[in-house]
Amino acid sequence: MSNDNDIDLARARAETPGIDRVVHLNNCGAGLMPTPVLDAVVEHLSLEAEIGGYEAEARAAAAIERSYDAIAELLNSGRDEIAIVENATVAWDMAFYGMRFEKGDRILTAAAEYASNYIAYLQVQKRSGVEIQVVPDDETGQLDVAALESLIDDRVKLISVTHVPTGGGLVNPAAEIGRVARATGVPFLLDACQSAGQIPLDVAEIGCDMLSATGRKYLRGPRGSGFLYVRSEMLERLEPPFLDLHAATWTGRDSYQMRPDARRFENWENYVGGKIGLGVAVDYALAWGLEAIRDRVQALAGEIRDRLAALPGATVHDQGVEKCGIVSFTLPGQDPHALKAAMAAEGININTSGAASTRLDMEARGLALVNRLGVHYYNSEAEIDRFFKLIEDLR
Ligand SMILES: Cc1ncc(COP(=O)(O)O)c(C=O)c1O
Repeated sequence: MSNDNDIDLARARAETPGIDRVVHLNNCGAGLMPTPVLDAVVEHLSLEAEIGGYEAEARAAAAIERSYDAIAELLNSGRDEIAIVENATVAWDMAFYGMRFEKGDRILTAAAEYASNYIAYLQVQKRSGVEIQVVPDDETGQLDVAALESLIDDRVKLISVTHVPTGGGLVNPAAEIGRVARATGVPFLLDACQSAGQIPLDVAEIGCDMLSATGRKYLRGPRGSGFLYVRSEMLERLEPPFLDLHAATWTGRDSYQMRPDARRFENWENYVGGKIGLGVAVDYALAWGLEAIRDRVQALAGEIRDRLAALPGATVHDQGVEKCGIVSFTLPGQDPHALKAAMAAEGININTSGAASTRLDMEARGLALVNRLGVHYYNSEAEIDRFFKLIEDLR
């Protein structure tokens, strides 16, 4: 059924210890770590316990530095344009709150924007009097690029869009948005939290100035890891919202100097094992190939959507031209929380997504709560059959 010729499923599954315990269809929550990632993190934690945290860090210097190179390779960026932080929210916040907004400035965003991002817009609106403008969707449900273009004027100071929203299969047209941003010179911040690891991301092709992502979801890295990309030309236009002695050097009683690279968005103390594990996870994804991952993930998700749509009364809520590995749906007479619990009782992990996560989009579509799953390349067709068998049993 799928054009997944490049993924050796048997090997992918052999290298995923969690598949012996669960049918994990919650990769949009957190992916199952593969063995190399798990080993790298555990090994480093053991070394910290054996020889001391600072000493372990010094010994692991090459692996730590490799993480920057791996992320740069993933994004087709420079290594100096990468900061590794604790999650996607911190990465995004460091970029967003690094912008200087004045009263009357406008932020253009999309309907399916993630709650944390929108809350930050609201805070800055309250503080500085910026205007938030939501670009309408087109008839397919993705951001309408022509509408975006028509809304650009001198007051627009930022285009900030979620690539893959948290609650469904939509993939917003990042590269087309990037073309508008490049043509008009408006900075473009892309939340790639759900797309990193399941869709190829090339910042040169996309044309974004800043990109944030997390480690634990489709990249299958450890929890508590994330990263920020800042285009080198953008670095001096952002003021990190806080600085410490890692981000800057105290050069005199009344002076300090920021680091020249994107690590000015990091701080000194960090989850070193997680940082190493994140790099291993990115290398692991690169070794499979992001195109091959995307193709298998999209084929599996497509099959799930088709089978769900064929169930009487079931609704698939995913929108857009391109759809990813996240599938949102509701079943007739099934409370989404109850379905999640029933699945969990049988060792199948799915999740729910509520209006508080993507309020504008969900309210516009009259949705309060849906079931959400995120399939990955290591999931098997047999696992999907188990999921559907249980749905049949519950009817
Ligand atoms: C679209 C999107 N952006 C940002 C985040 C926040 O990521 P993190 O929890 O790593 O901060 C999430 C988490 O679910 C998300 O789905």
